[in-house]
Amino acid sequence: MDEMIYDLGVYMTPSQLENLKIIIKTLFNNDLTKFELTASSGLSIIIVNKYCDCVHQYYLSKDLYKKVLDNVNKLNQTINHGFVKFLSSDDKLQLITYEKVEPINGDNFDTTKLKNDVFKTLKTMKELGISHGDLVLDNIGYSKIDNQYLIYDFETVKFDVKESNDLYTFLKSIKFHVGF
Ligand SMILES: Nc1ncnc2c1ncn2[C@@H]1O[C@H](COP(=O)(O)OP(=O)(O)OP(=O)(O)O)[C@@H](O)[C@H]1O
Ligand SMILES: [Mg+2]
Repeated sequence: MDEMIYDLGVYMTPSQLENLKIIIKTLFNNDLTKFELTASSGLSIIIVNKYCDCVHQYYLSKDLYKKVLDNVNKLNQTINHGFVKFLSSDDKLQLITYEKVEPINGDNFDTTKLKNDVFKTLKTMKELGISHGDLVLDNIGYSKIDNQYLIYDFETVKFDVKESNDLYTFLKSIKFHVGF
């Protein structure tokens, strides 16, 4: 288990490491075959549950956890489509569980469907004054259950905004991925 955690390449304080171990013990009873760990920015760790359509995200800082949870709650109250579903949260473990999607990798995505799905969501977001703040393809995944591309990464979401660069960022990210 230690090797699996060190392979993430994330610097963790002893208490953060301890908390991650408690999470793994609580969720999987330390059975390493039941999950995979990934980290990207180093601010959170994604625990992919192999036995349910869900992922658990452990936010290393309490402030980040609270900010994300607040954004997720506000989103839930205002928009009911286009975002990865929130399933549960645990304040003590700083853990949020979301519906699992297939993240976009390389250029193996359906550009037309991706644009259609995200444009619909962006239209509603504009009407409601919501911006995502980092709408790159790294933060979008495909849900087989919903047959739809869904947005995640709730850290930079803003409410009551008049302007947003989400559409620009999204289209630029598609161009970057397909290479033209
Ligand atoms: N609901 C999900 N289903 C499947 N994979 C997910 C889900 N949420 C996150 N991931 C995976 O975990 C990675 C990190 O998640 P997220 O973007 O929320 O964190 P981050 O730390 O803000 O990352 P970054 O700074 O790179 O945007 C994603 O790029 C994706 O590969
Ligand atoms: Mg991200």
